[in-house]
Amino acid sequence: MGTSTATALAHPNIAFIKYWGNRDNAMRLPENGSISMNLEELVTRTQVTLDPNLPADIFDLNNHRQTGLALQRVTTHLNVLRGIRGIGTKAYVRSENNFPEGAGIASSASAFAALTVAAIRALGIEMPEKDLSRLARRGSGSACRSIPTGFVEWYRGTSDIDSYAVSIAPPDFWSITDLVVILDEKKKATGSSEGHELAKTSPFQTARIQDADKRIERCRDAIQTRDFDLLAETTEIDCNMMHAVMMTSTPPLFYWNPLTLELIKMVRHWRKTGIPVAYTIDAGPNVHLICESTVENDLVEKLNHFTWVKQVQVCHPGGNAILE
Ligand code: DP6
Repeated sequence: MGTSTATALAHPNIAFIKYWGNRDNAMRLPENGSISMNLEELVTRTQVTLDPNLPADIFDLNNHRQTGLALQRVTTHLNVLRGIRGIGTKAYVRSENNFPEGAGIASSASAFAALTVAAIRALGIEMPEKDLSRLARRGSGSACRSIPTGFVEWYRGTSDIDSYAVSIAPPDFWSITDLVVILDEKKKATGSSEGHELAKTSPFQTARIQDADKRIERCRDAIQTRDFDLLAETTEIDCNMMHAVMMTSTPPLFYWNPLTLELIKMVRHWRKTGIPVAYTIDAGPNVHLICESTVENDLVEKLNHFTWVKQVQVCHPGGNAILE
């Protein structure tokens, strides 16, 4: 095989129903299904060049050569993909995000979605979306949700075969906005992969998982019927449940800071006054305000009045991972 190159684009996503904890960490088979929306304005662009002359994989992220764990994680994923063709050809991977690290957005979802799509093409393999999603899942769980378009559900599944994500509605189905409110630009102390492993040490994780199918149904219904109140209620409860598990793990994980709670209370107050807005928070202190797009400008203006708000990134429902 000679040199072969492909480039892919993928968006990160924000989950309304969260993924937290795996039945199988190596295969990233989740304890519960999840639902998310891709974020159109944020993009990862990844080029993969398979080159028989390379002695080892090279990984450049935003023009910085990566070593250690970051490189190891890319190599591990490339090994899974190369294994499909039974070849060991090393790769030069060049990846760029149009959003900075510490912007409150985990880049692993768009990173592993784009890497999977680009590498599979560079390997000369054709495959349906479902199988691309299964493979992306093994690089980073949430990456499987960045493969299909718009509003997406990741099936818990029973094994590697049926744990993948599908689109439940296209991006233009519902005009809602994710206002990513940056309160703290520092990198998080405990990454998601480590957090997933701790989830089972919380006695609350069992309760969270037992009730997950109900929340999935409600959230899917909310999206399919464009019922904002139902989406808001389900999203907030699910977020609180995940953070309750985090805070009661051994050791406990506290991702919030005082401003996170300040903003949570503000959002609940705004909703009581009739503004269609809800909050959700991932493994960090920053808050995602999910709102109907009709109120996005008013909310940005309100947020800009707070001196402690560092930055607001406005995101709309995004498309699927694609080849460039
Ligand atoms: C809190 O997909 O980043 O954002 O599989 O170890 O890469 P890995 O974890 P990751 O976990 C995401 C956790 C979350 C919730 C979510 O996006 O569903």
